[in-house]
Amino acid sequence: MTTLFLTVGLPGAGKTTRARQLAKEHSALRLTPDEWMIPLFGEPEADGKRDVLEGRLLSLAVEALRLGTNVVLDFGCWSRDERSAIRWLVKSVGASCHLVYVPVDHETQRARIAHRRSTTPNQTFPMSEADLLHWRTLFEEPDAAELDGDEIDGPPPGWTGWLEWATERWPSFT
Ligand SMILES: Nc1ncnc2c1ncn2[C@@H]1O[C@H](COP(=O)(O)OP(=O)(O)O)[C@@H](O)[C@H]1O
Ligand SMILES: [Mg+2]
Repeated sequence: MTTLFLTVGLPGAGKTTRARQLAKEHSALRLTPDEWMIPLFGEPEADGKRDVLEGRLLSLAVEALRLGTNVVLDFGCWSRDERSAIRWLVKSVGASCHLVYVPVDHETQRARIAHRRSTTPNQTFPMSEADLLHWRTLFEEPDAAELDGDEIDGPPPGWTGWLEWATERWPSFT
């Protein structure tokens, strides 16, 4: 059975570092959106293009699983709905999904971001103290049941399924 590892955590937590280790251990295809956004657009968001790029990477991830290749999807997924949608999509192709949560406290996060900025400035972008505090309020931390359980929530009210939800969330997902 093929596996998709989905990274979860705030910027600077150490997700991509962990993703690289997992890719090596499991001969997995690693898909890290920042490694596409920054070379293509010089910035991490660029007017909604990140959603489009992530949709393409998600389609590629599902295709790789179908072909028997393990995947590390380094999306960082802050939202529980995003994680549920991806878990559902992975299950729908008969693969297993493993959430890889990389927790980080504020001080460690600051130190890691500063370290990255001084060692690999071209792989990152500026983040202010206010950004870090704001992002922390947006992050939906996964609980033990989500991390260890097989149960996947249903889609939010008004949605017929996760496939429809995912197509709206990531416009280029097919
Ligand atoms: N476990 C760790 N201990 C110490 N430093 C780490 C650890 N994991 C990552 N780092 C460093 O922290 C910085 C941010 O890591 P990175 O993997 O790029 O985070 P993310 O992908 O979550 O934004 C990098 O400079 C990396 O070398
Ligand atoms: Mg990263």
